[in-house]
Amino acid sequence: MTHADRSPHAVFSDPWLSLREPADHRARDAQLTHAADRWLAQRHRDAGPFAHTGQVVDLGSGSGSNLRYLAPRLAGAQHWRLIDHDADLLAQARLRCECVASADGQPIHLETRQSTLAEAWNRGWPEADLVTASALFDLLTAADIEHLAKACQRAGCAALFALSVDGHIRFDDAGGRPVTSDDDQFAFHALADHQQCDKGSGPALGTRAPAVLRENFHRHGFRIREAITPWRLGPESLPLAEALMAGWRNALHEQVPTQVARIDRWHEQRLGELMRGQLSLTVGHRDLLAIPEPPR
Ligand SMILES: C[S@@+](CC[C@H](N)C(=O)[O-])C[C@H]1O[C@@H](n2cnc3c(N)ncnc32)[C@H](O)[C@@H]1O
Repeated sequence: MTHADRSPHAVFSDPWLSLREPADHRARDAQLTHAADRWLAQRHRDAGPFAHTGQVVDLGSGSGSNLRYLAPRLAGAQHWRLIDHDADLLAQARLRCECVASADGQPIHLETRQSTLAEAWNRGWPEADLVTASALFDLLTAADIEHLAKACQRAGCAALFALSVDGHIRFDDAGGRPVTSDDDQFAFHALADHQQCDKGSGPALGTRAPAVLRENFHRHGFRIREAITPWRLGPESLPLAEALMAGWRNALHEQVPTQVARIDRWHEQRLGELMRGQLSLTVGHRDLLAIPEPPR
């Protein structure tokens, strides 16, 4: 599949993913990561006395940000399979994950596979210990999540899903007090609607993704832990805030083409306030850890 065959909403540039990476890594929940590490250690102990290489599958891996966060926080040798439909991003991942080692200095073996996620659910991952993804699920459909939960259930693996947007967006003033206007509410509602547009296989989950993940994995026999992991974009994150606001303006033009002047006024005002340090911006996400319940 080439870029031209994909919905423009499922194409991501490496500069954008690189720009967001520091904010993503700051936002992620350390306790869920630690709990995933403890679960993997227990699974390796249960497997017997031989050294075991942890098998990790990263869905919609892009250029490897999730591996760069997670692999150095997990102990033991690891084999990572990075799955994405974008060959250019996978090539970047191979370059930029070369020097990553585990928490205890063990090697990380990296395999990249250019594939759609639909193909990935169909093949499954029977050998996986952990399936992971970051910043992915708003793009997918409810049917995708059902297939994902089933594939994880069949494998008996754990799942750690970071940074699913939850729709909580807020501007705060310099004293940390929320600031809101009718234009903010109009923009945030229209953005939520835009996130649910079809990315190629039906209406996307958008901000419903955290709830749909929780419900599906619970129903498929997993114990769920969740954490709130927002981006907090202040003066140190202006380039990211500016790029995000530009993306929002484009999305709003698509979503409400009759309101371009209102959107541009709102965008200019809020961006100016961010740039002058009068406001900061919080963008809500959730991390979710799903651990298979032991058989009764
Ligand atoms: C927002 S990016 C996140 C990338 C990476 N996980 C990160 O945190 O930087 C979403 C990724 O999912 C991939 N993707 C989206 N839809 C896909 C599909 N149907 N099949 C395979 N990959 C997909 C995109 O190519 C992109 O790399």
